[in-house]
Amino acid sequence: MPASSPDQQIMVPGHSRAWVEVDEGAITHNTRLLRQRIGPNVKLMAVVKANGYGHGDGAAAQAARAGGAHAFAVASLAEAIGLRHQGLQEPVLVLGHLSQVDEVHACLRWRLLPTISTLDQARVFHAVVSDSGACLPVHVNLDTGMARLGAPWQEGVALIQAIQRLDGLRVEGVYSHLAAADAVDPGLTQRQQQRFDHVLAALANGQPARLCRHLANSAATMANSSLHYDMVRVGLALYGHAPAEHLEGVLPLQPAMTVRARVTILKTVPAGTGISYDHRYHTTRSSRLAVVAIGYADGVPRLLSSRMGVLHRGHWLPQVGAITMDQLVIDATDHPQLHTGAVVTLLGNDGTAAISPRQWSQACSTIPWDILCGFSSRLPRLRAAHSVQHDGQLTVS
Ligand SMILES: Cc1ncc(COP(=O)(O)O)c(C=O)c1O
Repeated sequence: MPASSPDQQIMVPGHSRAWVEVDEGAITHNTRLLRQRIGPNVKLMAVVKANGYGHGDGAAAQAARAGGAHAFAVASLAEAIGLRHQGLQEPVLVLGHLSQVDEVHACLRWRLLPTISTLDQARVFHAVVSDSGACLPVHVNLDTGMARLGAPWQEGVALIQAIQRLDGLRVEGVYSHLAAADAVDPGLTQRQQQRFDHVLAALANGQPARLCRHLANSAATMANSSLHYDMVRVGLALYGHAPAEHLEGVLPLQPAMTVRARVTILKTVPAGTGISYDHRYHTTRSSRLAVVAIGYADGVPRLLSSRMGVLHRGHWLPQVGAITMDQLVIDATDHPQLHTGAVVTLLGNDGTAAISPRQWSQACSTIPWDILCGFSSRLPRLRAAHSVQHDGQLTVS
C-alpha cells in the first residue's frame, strides 16, 4: 500500500504529537529513475547532507544505495562520520571546507574524500598525510560562476597540477557547482560548463591521468545529459521533487516525505473572535477551531500563517492566525467529522489530495530545499512501511 494512502497504517508512538514519515522505497525508486536517466557509464553521488534533506541521512543513503547510488556527498565531517557509524562503506565526499590538522586525520581514519579549493589547504593535507605515509584521494572544486567555495576556474589547472606534485595526495576528482541549473534560461549554466570544459581540456593536454569529473545537480541531471560527465551529484530529485516547475514531469519522481500532526483540542468560538498572537485573523462566523500540535519550532514556517492549510481524508482545511512555536489553529467549521486525536497532513499525500514543498515555498518566498531541510529534530522520523489510521487509532501494520 503506498505511504500516502488515507487508510495507510503507520506505527506512531502514542505520545507523538507530530512526525515525519519517510518513504524509503520512494528514494530507492527515484534513484533508479535517475540512474536510468544517466545511463550505465555515469555514476550517481547521492547528496545526503543536512540529515538527508530532512529525511534522515542514514536511511536516505541506504535507500539511495539500494537504487544504485555509488557514493554520497555531505557538507561536514560530522555528517560524513555519521554515515560511517551507520554502516555506509561507499565513498563519501565532504563538500564543505576542511583545513584543520585533526580534520585531515579524520579523513584518513574514516576514508573520506575532502574537497580542496586552495593551495594552502592542500599543503595542510600534504603535511599531515605525507607524515603518515598514506595516500589520500581528494576532489578539487572549481568556482566556475557560483562564487562560493572552489578555486577560481582560471587557476584550476595550476592548482590541480600543484596538488599532484604533493606527496600523499591524489587528485581523484574535479568538480564545480552550478548556480542556476534550474533556471529556464540556460545561459549561466552554459557559461559555467564552458569554463569547466576549458579547465578539463587543458588538463587533458598536460596529462592523461583520468579524473572523475562532476558538475550536475538534480536540475542539470534532469535537463541536459551533456552536463553529466563521469558522475552526477543529486539531492532534491532523490527525495522526489523536481528542482523547478518546468522540470516537473520529466521523471515520475515519488515524494518521500509526509508530515503529519495530531488535533489536540476542538472548540467553537463566536464570529469576530481573534485567533492566536496579535489577533491577525478574526472569525467571520461561528467557527469550530482545531488546535494542531505542530509549529514553527518543528519546521512549519511562521511566514505561512493564514497562507496554508492541512488535509484530512483528502479535504483541505485552512490554517488561521499566527503559527506559533508549537501549535497552529485550523478552521474545521466545514468538517464536523474532525475530532480530537485525528491526524492531519501538513505536507505530502493524503488520499487523492497532496500538499507539496513547492506550494509552501511559493507561499513564503523560499525554495523547496529550505522547506524539506527545515523540519527539526523534534519531529520523529518514521518509516512509512508502518502506520497509523487517520482517525488517530494506533495500529501496527
Ligand atoms: C555542491 C553541491 N552539489 C550538489 C548539490 C545537490 O543539489 P540538488 O539538491 O539541487 O540536486 C548541492 C546542494 O546544495 C551542492 O551544494
